[in-house]
Amino acid sequence: HRLEMALESIEKGGYEHFMLKEIYEQPRSILDSMRGRMIAESGHLMMGGVREYENKFVNADRIIIVACGTSWHAGLVAEYLIEDLARIPVEVEYASEFRYRNPIITEKDIVIAISQSGETADTLAAIELAKSKGATIFGICNVVGSSIARATDAGAYTHAGPEIGVASTKAFTAQVTVLTIIAMIIGSKRGTLETTRVRQLIAELESIPAKVEEALKLNDQIVEISKKFKDATNFLYLGRGYNFPVALEGALKLKEISYIHAEGYPAAEMKHGPIALIDEQMPVVVIATKDSSYEKIVSNVQEVKARKGKVIAIVTEGDTTIPSMADHVIEIPETSEHLMPLLSVIPLQLLSYHIAVMRGCNVDQPRNLAKSVTVE
Ligand code: G6P
Repeated sequence: HRLEMALESIEKGGYEHFMLKEIYEQPRSILDSMRGRMIAESGHLMMGGVREYENKFVNADRIIIVACGTSWHAGLVAEYLIEDLARIPVEVEYASEFRYRNPIITEKDIVIAISQSGETADTLAAIELAKSKGATIFGICNVVGSSIARATDAGAYTHAGPEIGVASTKAFTAQVTVLTIIAMIIGSKRGTLETTRVRQLIAELESIPAKVEEALKLNDQIVEISKKFKDATNFLYLGRGYNFPVALEGALKLKEISYIHAEGYPAAEMKHGPIALIDEQMPVVVIATKDSSYEKIVSNVQEVKARKGKVIAIVTEGDTTIPSMADHVIEIPETSEHLMPLLSVIPLQLLSYHIAVMRGCNVDQPRNLAKSVTVE
């Protein structure tokens, strides 16, 4: 037993939990997920699995993304990316709903299945169903040789390395990185994305690992914020555009490991329900980085403050408007809005981690959850 303990502490590389280690590995794992797949100077993008099915991607009527949990959130980010950069309609489906609702699938559809473990039963079953209808199946998995990787026609590995903590962190950012590259490839082949834009986006993507490193330096500040909110019973997470899936992911992380009830919402939808919950007890995490919906989210912060909610805002470095209204401000580096989820999710992972540790929760193995769910 003592040997096991010693081995585990070596595996944790000096970190108290696997989850924290994996959060801190992200500058490296994001780099690994893009390595060898793009050249900024020429705007060249390479991904074996996509090249094989290039014509299918370019001529697809529709892309359907199937996944569960955090992988489903990465799928939502991909919906924004692919529709914006490649102009192909995308539907993002919970694998479990998709497989049971007699979905319309044709041979001109591409189904992208996203799974860290590659073993999720619902995702695997959704793939089998789509296959039987003649769709092309593309897999995005982290675990090499996993069931989903083997069941798909083609695919791309995320190369994030083993993820042990049940709450997914580095797998998510690796999935988003790979999906960004795929969206850029389809966009450039379809001519919806100019080469100069591709070059800019590649250069920006290459700068992400260093910016994640910067965001990780917020750790001490996030510890302080966590102390203030560790006893909250509810949390609301709001975001718009590319940050909407990040709001869902932030809320999921908190639920999974701290057992605090949390809801993620598109900020504009707040007025259709969640606003009724806001009072002086309610922490509201608002992801309000400088992007095309910035002005709108400023109004949403005002709406929360008018009802005395406690605003924890994630903003772009140098912003002065939101900091003048929010109770707590977390500044992250600037980037293109297409890539912002890779940065804005970092403080949310840390926030959930520290709150859970302060509440004495088993961070790496939360109750009732499994790393991969191989039953339906
Ligand atoms: C479980 C895990 C989640 C994960 C989800 C999908 O619920 O606890 O962290 O996001 O399964 O897993 P997959 O391996 O398919 O990405």
